[in-house]
Amino acid sequence: MVSPTINQVCLRTLSHPNPASIDTYIALGGYKIWQDIIKNRPEPQSLLTQIRQSLLRGRGGAGFIAGLKMSFIDSRASKPRYLVCNSDEGEPGTCKDTLILQYNPHQLIEGILIACYVQGMDVCYHYLRGEYQKQYDACELALEEAKSKGFLGKNIGKTELSIDIHNLLGAGSYIVGEESAMLESIEGKPALPRSKPPFPAVKGLYQQPTTVNNTETIASIPIILEKGADWFLDYGCQNSGGSKIFCVSGHVKNPGVFELPLGTPFKTLLSLCGGMRAKEKLKAVIPGGSSMRVLPAKHIMNLSMDYDALQHAGSALGSGGVIVMDESTCMVQALSCIARFYKHESCGQCTPCREGTGWVVRILDRIIAGDAQLSDLETLDRIAYSAEGRTICAFGEAFTWPVQSFLKHFMPEFKYYARHGRSMVTGR
Ligand SMILES: Cc1cc2nc3c(=O)[nH]c(=O)nc-3n(C[C@H](O)[C@H](O)[C@H](O)COP(=O)(O)O)c2cc1C
Repeated sequence: MVSPTINQVCLRTLSHPNPASIDTYIALGGYKIWQDIIKNRPEPQSLLTQIRQSLLRGRGGAGFIAGLKMSFIDSRASKPRYLVCNSDEGEPGTCKDTLILQYNPHQLIEGILIACYVQGMDVCYHYLRGEYQKQYDACELALEEAKSKGFLGKNIGKTELSIDIHNLLGAGSYIVGEESAMLESIEGKPALPRSKPPFPAVKGLYQQPTTVNNTETIASIPIILEKGADWFLDYGCQNSGGSKIFCVSGHVKNPGVFELPLGTPFKTLLSLCGGMRAKEKLKAVIPGGSSMRVLPAKHIMNLSMDYDALQHAGSALGSGGVIVMDESTCMVQALSCIARFYKHESCGQCTPCREGTGWVVRILDRIIAGDAQLSDLETLDRIAYSAEGRTICAFGEAFTWPVQSFLKHFMPEFKYYARHGRSMVTGR
């Protein structure tokens, strides 16, 4: 693994003047792969093989191998087929795609064009979260620039190759980030997740074969083809090729966003943020956005930031939103804050989620108000385990994993609060 250099893959334009402009991207070697593809029309399968070999894993949360997902699109499947680029970026603690959209939109466009070519698709819907007006404007401008160079549109390079990209702005819901809810929203319907199967690769957007990928996943593709699958693999660590954009928030001296090789030690990430703020010690970390399981300091301190290491430790890399908490954090209040978000964002389709999120908030409110009994903690735990895996989409996991893990690792704090009606940490 190479030493942790910053911003080499998805954010490589960041340190250059006018990072978002097409001239900057082209000067760094951008659109070279796409121009080669237009000219030489390689077998899509040969490109797919390289993407698969790179072990690029989905950066949207689940870490599914991107090349494998692409291979689910049957080369004989009917057309049109759609690519959906997921820039909803709703997971609390996560603010990485925004940098790609604003400062390196052309690498995303090139990634989209290559992914469409590989999967025989001629339309991509690029869905941005409702609050991302500025990023949407940057992507619209970039599309115009790319069109003026003849990189997309009808009959690209006077061939029969045609690919269109449409940027869409959402309306501010978290659930629309779930891929099937996103398909519903693009079709003009409320963003309610679909039951699966059928999976999007078979019946996705408008019931046609569809692949949904995260922005960071797609923006990694041009680099893989430019530098080779082996380079990408070497840049990361075993089973986790490439870089990851980590968004560090919470009680560190300098919160920030860092693109680092997968497998970078947690300690290195922490030191890049200047270490802990004030003099408090590290208490806990949520390593992959608020829906992932919290890890106590002693569990994460010697870990490397990659898919396998975090999974073995009982959490996950998720979206790379690293939320750092110091010893001054009351874990009861922290969980209450997270639970409120999930109650607000539940789409209400499935009973365990609609009712469960409400029960979690009400019990935590009771604990904080000093009206709880110890048996309420058992109820909290039971709700968290009985809702997991019993909902249409993974929102069931998103709201139960924090509850399960906060109770598992910090039970004495919850018991103290339930017994005394005040926080063991803050005394209030
Ligand atoms: C409730 C919920 C919210 C999600 N929000 C996002 C999101 O904001 N961005 C994203 O890329 N994936 C999000 N996902 C994951 C997507 O469903 C999907 O797995 C992902 O876009 C696939 O891309 P990838 O394979 O490149 O990671 C969410 C999933 C769930 C269950």
